[in-house]
Amino acid sequence: MTGGVTFDVSVAHPARIYDYWLGGKDNFAADRVAAEEVLTVMPAMAQIARSVRLFLAAVVHHLAADVGIRQFLDIGTGLPTANNTHEVAQRAVPEARIVYVDNDPIVLLHAGALLTGTRPGRCAYVDADVRDPDRVLTEAGSLLDLTEPVAVMMLGLLHFIPDADDPYSLTRYYLDSLAPGSYLAISHASSDINTEPQRAAVERYNARSATPIVLRSKAEVARFFGGLDLVPPGITPLGQWAPGTAIPGPVGLPTYTALARKPAGPL
Ligand SMILES: C[S@@+](CC[C@H](N)C(=O)[O-])C[C@H]1O[C@@H](n2cnc3c(N)ncnc32)[C@H](O)[C@@H]1O
Repeated sequence: MTGGVTFDVSVAHPARIYDYWLGGKDNFAADRVAAEEVLTVMPAMAQIARSVRLFLAAVVHHLAADVGIRQFLDIGTGLPTANNTHEVAQRAVPEARIVYVDNDPIVLLHAGALLTGTRPGRCAYVDADVRDPDRVLTEAGSLLDLTEPVAVMMLGLLHFIPDADDPYSLTRYYLDSLAPGSYLAISHASSDINTEPQRAAVERYNARSATPIVLRSKAEVARFFGGLDLVPPGITPLGQWAPGTAIPGPVGLPTYTALARKPAGPL
């Protein structure tokens, strides 16, 4: 227990494993063991984590600077690191408002570092599970105007939601609740790029982590975007969505990335 927040350090957790791959310090022995076991069979894992952060920065900058999006709902935020969503958005548009959501107590513990946005922009943090969309949207609605477009960021999140919890209906519910002109950004671990190292890595990850990963194919990832307009270049392997989103190293990183817009009318 730290600062009134309780968490179990004896079992590895996604936010802390990911923090280790990104070179952060907010992880414990169990997280480092799990992270290193994955690196043994997939040395590109640190490159993947860093490339996802470049994808995040590219998407947020594009939406804020080029599209005029002023509101971001970043679900599955992770531990604070370089170029958090509010920093990228508010560099382009100082009045941007960001709501962060995560269900891991250690992210809650460090959430203060995410709430540093300067006025006229604002930031808020919601300690909630993405599978509780009514609560997430209600709490987000105290900072965001949900009658105006919102960019929903679900990076590295949906592969933690098993089919039994119907992640497709879940993402649809979020988009149905938001205004036309809203956006959905996803990065998702893939089942059909570099199949063998990915399978071995996930087997090791799932043996250690409190929350297992579900790999999905390109067709399965495409289902998250049903009814939405994919922004070119569409669903791409990580590092190929925009120039500058690749970290030097192996190509064919087993993760898909995409951004799509909610059109006018029902989905
Ligand atoms: C791999 S990290 C991704 C962090 C960040 N979005 C990024 O891409 O750099 C996944 C995050 O999702 C969070 N997460 C996993 N399952 C969740 C759930 N059901 N509801 C909310 N957050 C969840 C984890 O706690 C972790 O912080």
